[in-house]
Amino acid sequence: MYISILGRQPNIGIAELAALYGKAAVSPLSDGAVKVETELFEFDRLGGSKKAGKIVAEFHGSNWQNVSKEIVRHYSRLWSASDHKITLGISAYGFNVSERDIQQTGIILKSRLKKHSTSLRLIPNKTAAHNTAVSHHNKLGLSPNKVELLVVRANNGNVLVAESIGAQNISALAARDQARPKTDAFVGMLPPKLAKIMINLSGLASGRILDPFCGTGVVLQESLLLGYDAYGTDLSQKMIDYSTVNTEWIKNKYKIKGSRVIEHGDAMTHTWSQPIDSVVAETYLGQPFSAPPSPAKQSSVSKNCNHIISSFLKNIHPQLKPDTKLVLAIPAWRDNKGRFNHLQLTADLETMGYSESSLSTNHALLYYREDQVVAREILILQRK
Ligand SMILES: C[S@@+](CC[C@H](N)C(=O)[O-])C[C@H]1O[C@@H](n2cnc3c(N)ncnc32)[C@H](O)[C@@H]1O
Repeated sequence: MYISILGRQPNIGIAELAALYGKAAVSPLSDGAVKVETELFEFDRLGGSKKAGKIVAEFHGSNWQNVSKEIVRHYSRLWSASDHKITLGISAYGFNVSERDIQQTGIILKSRLKKHSTSLRLIPNKTAAHNTAVSHHNKLGLSPNKVELLVVRANNGNVLVAESIGAQNISALAARDQARPKTDAFVGMLPPKLAKIMINLSGLASGRILDPFCGTGVVLQESLLLGYDAYGTDLSQKMIDYSTVNTEWIKNKYKIKGSRVIEHGDAMTHTWSQPIDSVVAETYLGQPFSAPPSPAKQSSVSKNCNHIISSFLKNIHPQLKPDTKLVLAIPAWRDNKGRFNHLQLTADLETMGYSESSLSTNHALLYYREDQVVAREILILQRK
């Protein structure tokens, strides 16, 4: 059994885990952490979790002082005969204690171990929980001697202790985002971790993923990396060229065997030449805004996006096998009061021949930064 520490938009991280492991296997512990019941947990393929760990202990209704004593007792015994130097980070989530209290646990453990001549390097706590960068750069959870304890206080008062199996590989994600040969700030590229989330939300085990709005090719790159075949189309010849160069780069860099087809096509009218197993796309999002647009402007941008995306959904419908999944990022605009304006088509999906997945029906899955007006709304659809 595992704990997953969720990223910035927890609902999306939970939906991703539910798509991979089944809804029943994922139970929320607190706002930012969930328990995942599975034997095999593939942390590296996730985009919506910052860290994960294997649960080693659960205490009922315990406070930090008691948990701290247990940690010191257990690990001083476990490591007292260790031949290796141990690096330790302790991250506490949901406790009302200071970072110094957390650090103190490590200091006591270090002094106990010293008596047994075991050397412990303690990662200093600047915050109660180490951020992803600290865990990643110290390689915590990636080898038996580099340990991070994830200590989570659940909403019901129980405390779970997990040994980390790794933190999000932010260096590799940044390299794929920024170091690839072709980028285009105007097109508004999809963050690679959101592409991973969307691919995982499709629930596809293997096969070919189509992105009919492929742009610079982020979905294609991440699909290839996760072991799928990639198929991209776009209206713009420049984007076709960019996707071709970028997918060539990723195939060479990571020695990927998966196949890749990229062709020119208007998603509203195109007839796709290859079989399609899932559709994953960041569709046309309209122009970027730095402040909420006027109602008239909002209405015209929204109508235009709605036209393109609903025409695409109608065009591709007869070309997909029944039950094919589509995971689409579509625009939703935030107004001055923080409310979202959604595209009209979100109310018309059933009549267009698509059902919405239960992973997203309870609440809209929205991905945005606080300073963004245009959010990405993630739709998970199934062709009826
Ligand atoms: C938001 S961008 C996608 C960016 C892409 N996810 C990436 O990471 O680079 C939308 C893309 O849709 C394309 N597009 C707009 N209208 C289209 C249409 N009718 N058919 C196909 N592509 C279209 C644009 O050329 C642009 O590349």
